Amino acid sequence: MQPARNVELKARDRDPAATFAAALTAGARDAGVLHQRDTYFAVPHGRLKLREEAGAPAQLIAYDRTDTASARTSAYHLVAVPDPPALIAALTATHGAGPVVQKTRRLLLRENVRIHLDAVTGLGDWVELEAVVPEGADLADEHAKVARLREALGMDDAQVVAEGYAQLLTRAAAPQDLVEAARLAMGRAHVPYSHFPVGAALRAEDNDGAVFLGANVENSAYPQTQCAEVSAIGALVSAGCRRVAEVAVMADTPLITPCGGCRQRLAELAGPGTPVHLCGPEGVRRTVTLGYLLPLSFDAAAMDRAR
Ligand code: THU
Repeated sequence: MQPARNVELKARDRDPAATFAAALTAGARDAGVLHQRDTYFAVPHGRLKLREEAGAPAQLIAYDRTDTASARTSAYHLVAVPDPPALIAALTATHGAGPVVQKTRRLLLRENVRIHLDAVTGLGDWVELEAVVPEGADLADEHAKVARLREALGMDDAQVVAEGYAQLLTRAAAPQDLVEAARLAMGRAHVPYSHFPVGAALRAEDNDGAVFLGANVENSAYPQTQCAEVSAIGALVSAGCRRVAEVAVMADTPLITPCGGCRQRLAELAGPGTPVHLCGPEGVRRTVTLGYLLPLSFDAAAMDRAR
């Protein structure tokens, strides 16, 4: 079954009342207020959330979207869910939980374009355009409609955002001290060969949650290069700590992820539930767990079982 498609655009809304008035002037019809809660799940491909809405059946929404600060296409599957608590329990147990996004949404409709005026808990006010693409259509008509409404609602470049609410909430909830430590370390990297600085920061479970940082250290004999995570692990262990409670890694690339070797090294001192914040220079882009990065990992317990 082919996914359905939307052309979407999201922006911060400095004045929801004015946006509402502008939408009505642009010919949109007010379709009322919705109360929605989206529970996200950790999945390896695309995104998966359960949407619960007061007075409507719950839906599992599986979707894929490239995050760019412009109108972009989202491809999605909708599945009706008769028992939301059971589905949340099943998917959280097997995939792990992601953020929960709660919002009050005023829905306006103009032809096949949905206009969302969202008040999102912890994130403030937003305006979203979603043009629903008819099956088999090219996207030209929808892009044109979104562009026209964007103009009418005054959604300027400075207000448009690339990311979804789940990522924005993840960033807002991220531990700033750890992110700043990773940033500091990244600035100190020794990278004359790759010119790719990486910073890592580890919060110790012991030592009152002390934070240790590390940068990548390259070498003219290339294989002698040390990853940022390894530098940070060395600092933590040298300070007398043995357990890692939380990890941040930062690099200026779409999504930095620890290399395979570093995942194994982190697993020596951390657990499958340990959060790993994957950061760009502006902050956390995604938070995953070590178990998500290193499933079916080898550890000392495997040797105990062999004896
Ligand atoms: N690098 C890290 O520091 N950590 C990672 O997890 C990925 C790669 C560094 C090593 C090398 O200095 C540069 O990135 C390019 O591979």
